[in-house]
Parts: sequence; structure tokens; C-alpha cells
Amino acid sequence: MEFIGRSIKKGEGHEGIGEAMVGEERISMIPTAPEVYWSALVNGQNIECHIESNAILLDVIRDEVGALGVKRGCDMGTCGCCTVLIDGEPKLSCLTLAGEVRAKEITTVEGLADGHHLHPIQDMFAKHGGSQCGFCTPGFLLVSSALLEKNNSPTDAEIKGAIEGNLCRCTGYQPIVDSIQAAAELMRTDAESVDSTTAKADPHPGFSGENEGGHTA
Ligand code: FES
Ligand code: FES
Repeated sequence: MEFIGRSIKKGEGHEGIGEAMVGEERISMIPTAPEVYWSALVNGQNIECHIESNAILLDVIRDEVGALGVKRGCDMGTCGCCTVLIDGEPKLSCLTLAGEVRAKEITTVEGLADGHHLHPIQDMFAKHGGSQCGFCTPGFLLVSSALLEKNNSPTDAEIKGAIEGNLCRCTGYQPIVDSIQAAAELMRTDAESVDSTTAKADPHPGFSGENEGGHTA
């Protein structure tokens, strides 16, 4: 048997790393991982498939789920393009084993809009020039939507802290910060209008009955 891996011995023809010739047959010397069952709730849809036990989430989301909004940038955890939300928290899918997030809720940029209604962060990125070539945009949208979910009045410093792991080579970043601030303002306005609608609909806001000595049934 002749080992023809490039780093050990360079053979002739179309040799590959970790391959060997057994007679006339070319075989791989690299063991393949066993296939395992995998499922998760991706953008509200239950996904079930079989994956290699060491599959990377980025590959599963793109190749099995077909959510191509998850971008492969650096593939080593430095650009943020591959960000997804796992149970609402941003995570780099290029550094995550799919098996780690089995049965979790995963959101990609495809799951941000509510039907035909864009998420405020998508709307404001479009209006304030937060996106140019768009390659980095899904990562920024997901990171900032997670921030605004917890804090709809962030300071510029808090925004910069939230997006510090995401790289953009087009916008110069200030339009991104402006877009996130505009989305925060829109979300505050929406929250206030929901609050005032609820208050109008309830003629006795704050009345629980429990402290009033009756009507608790
Ligand atoms: S592709 Fe994951 S951080 Fe760059
Ligand atoms: S918009 Fe092009 S890399 Fe960010």
C-alpha cells in the first residue's frame, strides 16, 4: 500500500491528502463520522435530518435546511457573518457543532420578518444605509435584533459592544449604528402604541380583583 498524502509523499496524478492506493483502488485514510439523527426548530419549522456526528452547524443550516442567509465568511470565528440565534442568543454557527444545539430553537435572517412585515431592524437597515453589498448584513441583523429584544434604548456604546464581533468592509459602521438606533426608536414607539391600545381596551387597568375583596373567579 502506497500512502500518497501530500504532506508525506507526493505521488503522481490526482493524489489527495490522506488517500492511499490499494492496488488500483484509491481509498481514504480519514475515517468518516457516523451519521446521527438531528432535529431542531429552525425559523419556526421543525427540521429533522441525518447528519455526520461531527457536522458543523453552519453546514447543516445551509446544506440541510437551505437557509442560505447564513453566510460563510472567515470560517474561523472572526467575522460574525455566520451568526444565528440559538434560543434568542447570537452564536457563531461556524464554531458550533450541530449536535450541541439539537432540539433548540434556531433563528436565521430568513426568520426575522413576520410574514410580509419586515422586522424593524431590517426596515431601518434599508432606510439608513446599514447594508451595502449585504454579505455581512444577516449577522448584524441577528446580533442587533437580540440586543433590542433585551434593551430597546441602547446607547451607542452598548450597540458598538454588541456588534464588535461582526465585521463589515463596506459601510464604515456609522450607518449600522444609526440603523440600530432608528430601529430601537421604532420599537419603542410600537411598544408605546401597544401599551396605550391595551390601556384603552381595559376600563379598569390595574384592577386585579384579588386585592379588592372579591370577583376573583
Ligand atoms: S464564518 Fe463564522 S465567524 Fe466568520
Ligand atoms: S455591507 Fe458589505 S461587508 Fe458589510
